[in-house]
Amino acid sequence: MVKQGDFEIVASPFQAVLNDLHSKYKLLQDGAVANYIPELAKVNPDLFSICVVTVNGEVYEVGDYKRLFTIQSISKVFTYGLALSDCGRDYVLTRVGVEPTGDAFNAIVLDEQSKRPYNPMVNAGAIATTSLIQGANPTERLNRVLDMFRRYLGHDVFVDMSVFTSERSTGHRNRAMAHLMLNFGMIDHNIEESLDLYFQQCAVMVNCQDLAVMAATLANKGINPITTEQAVDGRYIKDILSVMHTCGMYNFAGEWAYKVGIPAKSGVSGGIIAVVPGKMGIAVFSPLLDVRGNSVRGVKVCEELSFQLGLHLFDCLGNGRRKKEEGRKKNVRF
Ligand code: DON
Repeated sequence: MVKQGDFEIVASPFQAVLNDLHSKYKLLQDGAVANYIPELAKVNPDLFSICVVTVNGEVYEVGDYKRLFTIQSISKVFTYGLALSDCGRDYVLTRVGVEPTGDAFNAIVLDEQSKRPYNPMVNAGAIATTSLIQGANPTERLNRVLDMFRRYLGHDVFVDMSVFTSERSTGHRNRAMAHLMLNFGMIDHNIEESLDLYFQQCAVMVNCQDLAVMAATLANKGINPITTEQAVDGRYIKDILSVMHTCGMYNFAGEWAYKVGIPAKSGVSGGIIAVVPGKMGIAVFSPLLDVRGNSVRGVKVCEELSFQLGLHLFDCLGNGRRKKEEGRKKNVRF
């Protein structure tokens, strides 16, 4: 075991699997960086990192895993957990549904009958979710969100002000969604405050290692495996992971569930987190995106990792088990 900062980097055959995936997929140059938020277009498209953190706190990582970027839509998972803790499941369900849309993440669409946004993983649902976060004023609400991220990451976080202001001044689609939801009573009075908090949560800075710790916290009943702090009440983990599983990869969610088979969430800055309940959190960062806004290399790495390690949640007999047997022979840990 090699000690690096606060983390134990474990030298093992598992690390070799990550190294191989990194070497293989760094050659893949498909996709384009997000440019609809002007500040995001400035990112170096070659950045690439993979990190796995187990529920025992073991850390495996390769590439630019210390490089900071804004969390973007991956934040939606965690603010959903905070809204559930603040308002309870029943109330949150009156404001935001749990149905996948099949539409793009920024579609301006609400459920025709209930007028709710479809789910908390798409922009409309995430804005409605953020509007539920409690606090006496905008500063207190922002501090509660930042403190929530601190529990998941194990250290303080900050908002990238240039990305925040860039999105705030160009986020007219999100503003249109907020007005539509205000019209139907799905979001309360001060929509500019809710939008600001939503843009701020999206602009929280993380690195790939942070994302893997956050994912591992979800895999570990809401307890950060490095600090052992309870980041979210364990009773909401099944709600969070369910919507990640069905809606986390937007209009790719079905294919992802079919092929990769573990709850996941992506963001337009190029991050993807995936959660193997009771086992590990996985994070990949690579800013080149496909047309649905998912990291091209991130999707490939997760597909292959799931296949190689037999991580698909519903794979009780098939490839996963065969791969596990092969893994045991090669002494690969998972
Ligand atoms: O609302 C937006 O457009 C961004 N702040 C977040 C979008 C995002 O990451 C969608 N993910 N693929």
